[in-house]
Amino acid sequence: MIPSMSEKGMKPSRYLLCLITMSMSLLILSSVFLLQSTTTSLLTGSVFKQIHINNSTLYFRPNSNSNSNENFNPGSVASTSNGNVQDLITPDSITSKEVRDFREERRTVCDTNEDILKIFMYDLPSEFHFGLLGWNGEGDQMWPDVSNVSRVPPYPGGLNLQHSIEYWLTLDLLASNTPSVVRPCSAIRVENASQADVIFVPFFSSLSYNRHSKPQGRERKSINRMLQEKLVEFLTSRDEWKRQDGKDHIILAHHPNSMLDVRKNLGSAMFVLADFGRYPTKVANIEKDIIAPYKHVVRTINEDSADFDGRPILIYFQGAIYRKDGGFIRQELYYLLKDEKDVHFTFGSVRGNGINKAGQGMASSKFCLNIAGDTPSSNRLFDAIASHCVPVIISDEIELPFEDVLDYSEFCIFIRASDAIKEGFLLKLLQGIKRDKWTKMWDKLKKVAHHFEYQYPSQPEDAVDMIWGAISHRISSISSVPFRLHRENRFRLTEGIAKINGLKKEEFLSHNRLPSKREGGRGGRKKKQSKNIL
Ligand SMILES: *[C@@H]1O[C@H](CO)[C@@H](O)[C@H](O)[C@H]1NC(C)=O
Ligand SMILES: *[C@@H]1O[C@H](CO)[C@@H](O)[C@H](O)[C@H]1NC(C)=O
Ligand SMILES: *[C@@H]1O[C@H](CO)[C@@H](O)[C@H](O)[C@H]1NC(C)=O
Ligand SMILES: *[C@@H]1O[C@H](CO)[C@@H](O)[C@H](O)[C@H]1NC(C)=O
Repeated sequence: MIPSMSEKGMKPSRYLLCLITMSMSLLILSSVFLLQSTTTSLLTGSVFKQIHINNSTLYFRPNSNSNSNENFNPGSVASTSNGNVQDLITPDSITSKEVRDFREERRTVCDTNEDILKIFMYDLPSEFHFGLLGWNGEGDQMWPDVSNVSRVPPYPGGLNLQHSIEYWLTLDLLASNTPSVVRPCSAIRVENASQADVIFVPFFSSLSYNRHSKPQGRERKSINRMLQEKLVEFLTSRDEWKRQDGKDHIILAHHPNSMLDVRKNLGSAMFVLADFGRYPTKVANIEKDIIAPYKHVVRTINEDSADFDGRPILIYFQGAIYRKDGGFIRQELYYLLKDEKDVHFTFGSVRGNGINKAGQGMASSKFCLNIAGDTPSSNRLFDAIASHCVPVIISDEIELPFEDVLDYSEFCIFIRASDAIKEGFLLKLLQGIKRDKWTKMWDKLKKVAHHFEYQYPSQPEDAVDMIWGAISHRISSISSVPFRLHRENRFRLTEGIAKINGLKKEEFLSHNRLPSKREGGRGGRKKKQSKNIL
């Protein structure tokens, strides 16, 4: 049975959330009226938090009690040269009164009594989180001081970063109680679990897997395993957990192998994952869990990235040649494409300088392939987005982040694996996407790219903000209709183009899927499990 958030116990809070949603709508309306703004968006269901003055963006500080100019944090003036945040008000429409009114508005919105997602975070010992980064609190210091951005404990770089979701979310929660850090106000940490909408478990499980999954010296168990077992013991003994059998708990397990030993014991919780590839449906599924983007490893490209003519490579792929499960399709595609003109298809690691090279390659390509590897997802998709290279997704089992608010068919091409390996199909299809169509997708890519950025402090509608939004939607059961529509849209474009190109219906509408083994949680692949899915 699929655990569902709609079982009894959630009803009253859903009613409450309904009320909250209504009052929020009123609030948004009033602020729109107040600011005479015509451009607003309800993307994450939160009121916009920034205003633009002289090409800069000012973010308002949550829960600030000071008045007048103090509310503008000098450190908060962030350049928006990449143009990725919507204007709330245009520079010439600003008056100091309006700014003041808006500020008042913000203070109300950020109040814990209001509509934002209230999160209780367990004060787990540091060995579960920042201790894994080598941080040691002084005295009884439970958490690092996050008030000075340049003193926050750093997360290890390189490929560890792609699963660093745990780090950014935890930092953001800590910042929500730190007046000097300016961030969007879509979630806030509360001190009392009985006031919380959800309970956050601050275990850096991906780092724990990456760093400590092998027993050291004479240890029987790895630190990773020991931490997981301690966590289960801790959680299942808590009243907060027993209250709803853990349904309102958020557990981060972005690396496909993180939490491997105990995931089945905690399956009632809401997981934040990269995909469901290594999970039995009973333990994790799209009904209760959240898909979060990988942190891309290539550099974010500027807004003025190369256009259609500035990208000489038609199709780009770089990655490992041999992958188990769905991964054999990479080989098939390699033999189909390797000798084609304008196609860059090579196998190799992107470690070290490879990352820079891959970034340059993607930024010089029109289409970037995202082919299923040993898991349905990989950070290559997010590297492509950061490079404004139109992603071509060939992964039948992929789940996409934020699909309830993003229609990926506007900026990605989806191709069924069984179609992609038909001779000539892929090339013909992509050659059939001409400058106009491609440019539309590229424009859209540039608009959505900021939703996939992890950063500290978090900014409106970036990845952290979007994840809180996704959690809010999940617990309030905000309509899943857009989600379904967006999913249905995935293949519409491909089928349309295939038709135009004279590819016969039978050729592009094969619904028979490639056999795909799904691993039931654990065992089997221990040795060969690659640490980094690249
Ligand atoms: C914006 O720029 C104009 C002229 O460049 C200046 O007079 C004005 O004070 C600036 N406004 C703010 C809020 O910085
Ligand atoms: C804002 O940016 C535009 C174009 O980027 C520039 O033309 C304009 O002078 C800038 N305005 C200010 C006040 O810096
Ligand atoms: C933040 O930390 C950096 C480096 O330690 C220091 O140079 C800077 O002055 C600090 N900023 C504030 C506002 O304390
Ligand atoms: C948390 O809130 C509940 C109900 O509002 C209250 O009974 C309880 O004492 C609070 N606990 C703490 C630690 O403040």
